[in-house]
Amino acid sequence: MAIVNLQNVTYRYPLTDESVLKNINLQVDEGEFLAVIGPNGSGKSTLCYTLAGFVPHFFKGEISGSVEVAGLESSASTLDEWVMNVGLAFQNPFNQISGAKFTVFEEIAFGLENIGVPREEMKPRVEDAMKLTGITDLADRSPYSLSGGQQQRVALTSILVMQPKVLVLDEPTSQLDPIGTREVFGVIRTLAEKGMTVILAEHKVEWIANFADRVIALHEGQIILDGLPGEVLTSDILLEKGFGISRYTSVARKARAIGLWKNSNLPVTLDEAVDGFKR
Ligand SMILES: Nc1ncnc2c1ncn2[C@@H]1O[C@H](COP(=O)(O)OP(=O)(O)OP(=O)(O)O)[C@@H](O)[C@H]1O
Ligand SMILES: [Mg+2]
Repeated sequence: MAIVNLQNVTYRYPLTDESVLKNINLQVDEGEFLAVIGPNGSGKSTLCYTLAGFVPHFFKGEISGSVEVAGLESSASTLDEWVMNVGLAFQNPFNQISGAKFTVFEEIAFGLENIGVPREEMKPRVEDAMKLTGITDLADRSPYSLSGGQQQRVALTSILVMQPKVLVLDEPTSQLDPIGTREVFGVIRTLAEKGMTVILAEHKVEWIANFADRVIALHEGQIILDGLPGEVLTSDILLEKGFGISRYTSVARKARAIGLWKNSNLPVTLDEAVDGFKR
């Protein structure tokens, strides 16, 4: 069953001439893990905003087509309803911090407080969410005293605590080092395995290959590829259109040109590359 259904969605920001999403048709099934790739400016963040109701309820502008997510219809609902059902982690975690709270714990509890969750229910929910993302030790810190990576985890935690039906993540590891990235992807994988619908805009293609069920490629506001990670992430079209691609794919492509890569498929991850060269 599709929990996300976008039909012919075209969107233009206010005071601009060109649409940044063009005729987007996208269905995502409940429990699916979809990754979105695309060069800078291709519209990944704008698509995330659209999936989370920020377009058009916060960023005005002009939208056409229909957007349905988690039972909400974009034109017939408010941003509050969206926030309750669809969690969005912003690309810049700094944008997510409320500025209203003095501790990380309170910051994470803020959304629950807003919807009137009783204190005794709030505490275990916040503690569980913090445990999941590995930030229990930050509970008493000021949200503003944190590193970018810590802020990114706090932002993710404050979304998870709301138990959204759909989780939209806009480059959630952009501020993280390799260890932090691995940890956060571990959390995302756990959520996906629990059946949460996850949509992830991400540059780190090797991670996507390991985790996603499906990948779409955005280019100048249009979906130009839609399929399995192994197919989309090794497509020649990505090279032509200036997408970031895995170094292992590049190496194997060069090796293939001189007869050293004999498989019909190109690798995305290190393991796939090593496997392929062994044969
Ligand atoms: N608030 C805004 N007003 C006007 N134009 C905007 C606004 N935000 C983004 N844009 C434009 O929309 C296009 C798509 O931007 P978007 O941020 O969605 O791309 P992106 O794929 O997320 O890029 P990046 O990889 O840099 O995060 C770009 O041309 C950008 O300049
Ligand atoms: Mg972006």
